[in-house]
Amino acid sequence: MENILVTGGAGFIGSNLTLTLQQKYPSARITVIDDFRSGDFKNLEGFKGDLIAADLTDLNLKHYFKGVKFDALFHLASITDTTDHDQLRQTRDNVESWRTLLDYFAGRKTALVYASSAATYGIGGGINRIDAPLKPANVYAFSKVQMENLSTRFAADFPEQRLVGVRYFNVYGPRETHKGQPASMIYHLAQQIAAGKSPRIFKFGEQKRDFVYVADIVAGTLAAATAPGAVHGAVYNLGSGQARSFNDVISALNAALGTQAVAEYFDNPFAFYQPHTEADLSATTAALRYTPKFTLETGIQDYVKSGWLVPGHASAVPAPAAKASSAKKTIALEKIAPVKKSEPAPGGV
Ligand SMILES: NC(=O)c1ccc[n+]([C@@H]2O[C@H](COP(=O)([O-])OP(=O)(O)OC[C@H]3O[C@@H](n4cnc5c(N)ncnc54)[C@H](O)[C@@H]3O)[C@@H](O)[C@H]2O)c1
Repeated sequence: MENILVTGGAGFIGSNLTLTLQQKYPSARITVIDDFRSGDFKNLEGFKGDLIAADLTDLNLKHYFKGVKFDALFHLASITDTTDHDQLRQTRDNVESWRTLLDYFAGRKTALVYASSAATYGIGGGINRIDAPLKPANVYAFSKVQMENLSTRFAADFPEQRLVGVRYFNVYGPRETHKGQPASMIYHLAQQIAAGKSPRIFKFGEQKRDFVYVADIVAGTLAAATAPGAVHGAVYNLGSGQARSFNDVISALNAALGTQAVAEYFDNPFAFYQPHTEADLSATTAALRYTPKFTLETGIQDYVKSGWLVPGHASAVPAPAAKASSAKKTIALEKIAPVKKSEPAPGGV
């Protein structure tokens, strides 16, 4: 690939993708578009390409890209705060950004890849199969369904192009720090442990999520643009393919951080709460040749090693052999913080 456009490149996944592209295609011209509404310039340290700081909803692409031929567009820009319930803002910004790009790229040879979300499946539990009926439970998820609908129509209108959607599950990894409350549950629980507090999870920690490490997400997103088997107009699940419990997350964090923090369970305040997410990867593996490389344990270890999860704690410390129930060896918890309004609802986008 010689000429690549990434939207949302200052964000969590977009910056990981951009820096990987730069490494993989060192002579490529890479352009990022981001308006920094939730991204952060620090994520793009080392980026050598061009950055257009602009809102995609009303961007005049012709002005910037007259005569430019892109090999691939990765569209990751989106409002990612699922607790933003402004229906007009979420649908307008997320859907119209995509429409602006599709209008511009219609009839061109660029491979088009866009980020959708497992949130489109809604709150029903079980294995998430790609052809399941979509039941968005919030307007963020609804906007992603609308993006998929728009893509289906585009694929029918322009059958000669390559347009592929990817439904991300619960992504965690370096460069999500800027997200604040919408950052992954793994990030938030690690901060609590590092601060010497009990990691707080809903009673009794057996809810399960498909947690997927960002390096796997980047690999799958790249495959969506390049794999010969990807079907034009299709959307594919990108997850780890495994449902792991909140208790598992705490065990994996303890092992990677060398701590013995003990969970504090509290009542789930949500009347409707997804009990289980799990990406069915059969179509993804067949079409994209995508196989996740990281388990929950190895992903968290790599995250710790990166220095992004707990700054200053860049090397994994082997967990002591003693049992976590040993009061003496657990992290001292003089005061357990009450549930704050800003406390993340585990689940992510
Ligand atoms: N992180 C996850 O677990 C997860 C799960 C499912 C789907 N996704 C999707 O993956 C994509 C990336 O998410 P992320 O976690 O990196 O979030 P993020 O908030 O870190 O990144 C989104 C980026 O898009 C930019 N942006 C938003 N609207 C824009 C606009 N109109 N014009 C220009 N820039 C704009 C933001 O400034 C930010 O840098 C999003 O499409 C999101 O919906 C993420």
